[in-house]
Amino acid sequence: MSEDIDWLQIFKACEENVKAKIQHLKKSPPPQSELGIGAGGDPIKPVDLAAENAIVKTIRERNLSFTLISEESGIRKFGNTPEDCYLTIDPIDGTTNLVHGLPFYCSSIAVSRKPSSSKVFAALVTDLHHDISYTAIEGKGAQRNGQRITPSQNSTLNKALIGLDLNTYKIKEIIPRINNLIQHTKHIRHFGANALEICYVADGSTDAFVDLRGKLRATDVAAAFLILKEAGGTLTAPDGQPIDLKLDPKQKTKFIVSGNPKIHKALLDLITIGKQTC
Ligand code: IPD
Ligand code: CA
Repeated sequence: MSEDIDWLQIFKACEENVKAKIQHLKKSPPPQSELGIGAGGDPIKPVDLAAENAIVKTIRERNLSFTLISEESGIRKFGNTPEDCYLTIDPIDGTTNLVHGLPFYCSSIAVSRKPSSSKVFAALVTDLHHDISYTAIEGKGAQRNGQRITPSQNSTLNKALIGLDLNTYKIKEIIPRINNLIQHTKHIRHFGANALEICYVADGSTDAFVDLRGKLRATDVAAAFLILKEAGGTLTAPDGQPIDLKLDPKQKTKFIVSGNPKIHKALLDLITIGKQTC
């Protein structure tokens, strides 16, 4: 059974091997050429492929059968029984930060029984610059560097620090919907690696994170969603409905994640109001 495997130990090895591959890029990243378009629809950079190869190699060395669902190389099957488990990965989330020398990027790995986000049972999001790793095993809570994490209990927007992805894409459509949200929120941030930003909600560093674009892929969020859920945070689509994503590099999502149901409701109300007035 793939659930009996020590995934935390495998995650540790993946993390070390990815870091070894990108070590030389940390201080002065050389210009990155583009190697075509990845399965998720964005250009692939050499650093993305190096990280993907490091993860795949680490798992293959353990003779496991699995189906890989990657933002870069798409869906690939390994071993005799590839339906044993599904590994949904974003080798580097925050590639733009990495190639600009900005210290905020991570790798994500989600392990699931079926290719759907509700079936993820083990997850890693690892901050490759600061040596901070978020992990979760279904039913066993979420951890940052092995220590249990819980989200913020702040329910007041005028004291809140909220992440908001406004990165390109449909911006004219989105601005009217977030007008009220920005006006009522004390602090707004976007660091540029959404999986890590969801983990910041999971550990209470921020109060919520909102991405209304419908641009982010399931591969970016599959691991972070389990970490958020296991920490005790709240996750819904912008209309308040639950989210269960097909795990496929082409599957896109929009979502709100929050530390607690009260602040989540406040956000949903503001976003809906914004929608009605636009
Ligand atoms: C990107 C980051 C960024 C978001 C982009 C994503 P990538 O991930 O998560 O914060 O605004 O939409 O594509 O491309 O570096 O894996
Ligand atoms: Ca990526």
